[in-house]
Amino acid sequence: MEITNVTEYDAIAKQKLPKMVYDYYASGAEDQWTLQENRNAFARILFRPRILIDVSKIDMTTTVLGFKISMPIMVAPTAMQKMAHPDGEYATARAASAAGTIMTLSSWATSSVEEVASTGPGIRFFQLYVYKNRNVVEQLVRRAERAGFKAIALTVDTPRLGRRESDIKNRFTLPPNLTLKNFEGLDLGKMDEAADSGLASYVAGQIDRTLSWKDVQWLQTITKLPILVKGVLTGEDARIAVQAGAAGIIVSNHGARQLDYVPATISALEEVVKATQGRIPVFLDGGVRRGTDVFKALALGASGIFIGRPVVFSLAAEGEAGVRKVLQMLRDEFELTMALSGCRSLKEISRNHITTEWDTPRDSPRPLARL
Ligand code: FNR
Repeated sequence: MEITNVTEYDAIAKQKLPKMVYDYYASGAEDQWTLQENRNAFARILFRPRILIDVSKIDMTTTVLGFKISMPIMVAPTAMQKMAHPDGEYATARAASAAGTIMTLSSWATSSVEEVASTGPGIRFFQLYVYKNRNVVEQLVRRAERAGFKAIALTVDTPRLGRRESDIKNRFTLPPNLTLKNFEGLDLGKMDEAADSGLASYVAGQIDRTLSWKDVQWLQTITKLPILVKGVLTGEDARIAVQAGAAGIIVSNHGARQLDYVPATISALEEVVKATQGRIPVFLDGGVRRGTDVFKALALGASGIFIGRPVVFSLAAEGEAGVRKVLQMLRDEFELTMALSGCRSLKEISRNHITTEWDTPRDSPRPLARL
């Protein structure tokens, strides 16, 4: 049957993948309230479309950290993509490059920064987890830089791994034929089985819980690459990120996999945008499945969005062709949303094109003055 939207890849992936793998990709933390809310909150935002505007030409191009891309839809870092498909991160890199957009490679990829770079040209960011061993971090950042990656997305919401109960039940671990390729030569590429989640144990052993804002500054001493702080959910932290020298912010709740009962990212976005006062760009990920979602995020001030699960699910279903299709479907839907809302370029997308539940009623008839 023909696939007509991004969400349909979820069911196909579920059929194709071993349960342990599918559950790892799909799950959120604990009650998965935030997982549902990431979607539900988009559904509560409605459009205020403008009519009778010549929309025969639509321009979706934009610039991210100075790099021109074809659309404000980018690929979020998701770990261990070779569990989805043997081509793994290679396929994702090629698909993103073909779509003219940015791929973010996870620290925990099953392909190395050098391997991904070898797939050919493309603008790529590297997502960084900070290990206790800072020599490891320094080496990895240098390698990413040398391999031509253009920015570091520093993940700041994972001092410990969120409690993902299906990973505990399944005793999730990286299949033995795969490694965390970036760490292979550093003797940190394997994930042992544990009495609960193998990944949670790996994180507890290797990831630096002391990570703090001073490390954002330290990172700037070891690399010239711009740093995106990934995992901001409040205006308070947005202000500190600006002061700490971040080049941008990614409003993210890690696809609802870390702290449960945080708001949907689309609900937190506007607070963060206001706090940054236009000093640095703000991006969003979490629950983006439709072109209408992309538009809503931009209307609330995002400079672009990233997608996570749609990439791994489409990869599982159809490899590179699947990821290409996901990017193309979102692009087409977003273009249609722009046309039907009366916007010809991204700068025409405004706050007035949507209405949210936290808006005060506008243009509502005033009660008649009592005589
Ligand atoms: C992730 N995410 C993630 N983030 C990160 O910084 N490093 C990583 O290695 C991973 N790995 C990862 C694996 C899987 C299977 C998922 C689903 C997510 C989080 C990811 O970058 C992003 O924040 C969310 O996936 C966005 O939400 P959606 O699009 O999946 O709803």
